[in-house]
Parts: sequence; structure tokens; C-alpha cells
Amino acid sequence: MSRRQHLFDAVVWVGTTVFLAIGLGRSADAATASADPYVAECGSCHVAYPAKLLPAGDWARVLARLDRHFGVDASLDADTLAQVAHHLGAHVGDTGGTAPLPRITTMRWFLGEHGELSAGTFRSPAVKSAANCAACHPGAERGQFDEHSVRLPASVARTQTSGEEHEHEHESED
Ligand code: HEC
Ligand code: HEC
Repeated sequence: MSRRQHLFDAVVWVGTTVFLAIGLGRSADAATASADPYVAECGSCHVAYPAKLLPAGDWARVLARLDRHFGVDASLDADTLAQVAHHLGAHVGDTGGTAPLPRITTMRWFLGEHGELSAGTFRSPAVKSAANCAACHPGAERGQFDEHSVRLPASVARTQTSGEEHEHEHESED
């Protein structure tokens, strides 16, 4: 397909979405939902975590136990489950077991990358939980986590830097 064709398709798509949003109000949500079931179903309570953040086997375990999902019921019908599994590169099988569900926030790399944050930061009212990536990474859903796009909530940023004089030295270096 040519670039021009892509552009045309994008314009038509945007146009259609705007039309639906204006003309149909609430049902625009349904249009978005059908466009990407993963974001619609797995991004309603927390950010739709990018697939690359967990190994496929861990995603399969999460999907196998959606009825007991970290204290909530996040069950999906079979069709939607299949679409979500496809998005995550996971095979749905009897991989549930009784072991605790895998978490992104307990993985070694996660703890390493966030080691500098003070203990109370993740529990602060503005953040609530380490799982709430979007509180500090506005581009989380698009997989944007690089240090230049990190934005700590103002209340947290204050407590993080108070009493840490060397923080300023560090900042003036770059
Ligand atoms: C009804 C609300 C709800 C829905 C829908 C939902 N979740 Fe969750 N999810 C939660 C809650 C609550 C937690 C625990 C968050 C915390 O510890 O702060 C969680 C945590 C997670 C975690 C672990 C985050 C961590 O700490 O690393 C993963 C992975 C996850 N969800 C994946 C999914 C996937 C995949 C879907 C879609 C199939 C989904 N969730 C749909 C409520 C939901
Ligand atoms: C309380 C704020 C906060 C929350 C919540 C948070 N992060 Fe971070 N994250 C940071 C900070 C601060 C850094 C370090 C940036 C730096 O390198 O200086 C970071 C770094 C990272 C990095 C490394 C980026 C790089 O290129 O160096 C990744 C990946 C990341 N976070 C993913 C996540 C994911 C996934 C979640 C949710 C499951 C999450 N973070 C939740 C604040 C947060």
C-alpha cells in the first residue's frame, strides 16, 4: 500500500471517529472498544500494560484466572479473551494454578528501575500503587517509559527531592 493510501485511510478513520463521537455520543465508546479489545477490556481499571512488560507465559497465567484478578472479577467472554490473548502473544490454557499471579511490579528489572523512589512514593494519594504506571509515565499505554518522559505528580516530586541536596547537582550535570 502506498503512503498516500495510508494517509487517506487515516483521514477516513479519523473522520469516521469524529463523526461517531459527535453523532452518536456514548456509542463512540463502543466504536473504540471494537477497534482494540485489549485497551477497552484491560485498560479500564489500570493502564493497558504494554505486552512486552511480561513474558507470554505470565500473561497466560493472568488470563487463566481473570475471575480472581487481584481481588476483582475481570472475566471476559471466550471471543474477547481470545483477542486479548492474541494481543499479548499468550496461549490460553490451564496454566492458572494456585501460585500468586505474576506482577510487573515485582519483577527484578522493575525494582531496579524504581530503586531510587522513596518507600512512601508508590503509596502516596497521587500514585496509590506501583501498578498505576500512568501516574508517573503519561505515555505508559504507548510503551513510553524513558526517563525524559517521566512526570512525577507534584506532591510526590516535592517529597522525593526534599533533603536531597545532591539531586540538584545531578540535575545541573545534563
Ligand atoms: C475490574 C478492574 C480490572 C480489570 C477489568 C482488569 N484489571 Fe488488571 N488489575 C486490577 C487490579 C485492582 C489490580 C491490582 C492493582 C494494584 O496492585 O495496585 C490489577 C493488576 C494487574 C496486573 C499486575 C500489575 C502489577 O502490579 O504489576 C496485571 C499484569 C493486570 N492487572 C493485567 C490485566 C489484564 C491483562 C486485564 C484484561 C484481561 C486486566 N488486568 C483487567 C483490576 C483490573
Ligand atoms: C511513582 C512514579 C512511578 C510509577 C507509579 C511507575 N514508575 Fe516507572 N519510573 C519512575 C521513575 C522516577 C523512573 C526512573 C527514571 C530515570 O531513569 O531516572 C522510572 C523508570 C521506569 C523504566 C525505565 C525507563 C528507562 O528507559 O530508563 C521503566 C521501563 C518503567 N519505569 C516502567 C514502569 C511501569 C511498567 C510501571 C507500572 C507497572 C511504572 N514504571 C510505574 C516512576 C514511576
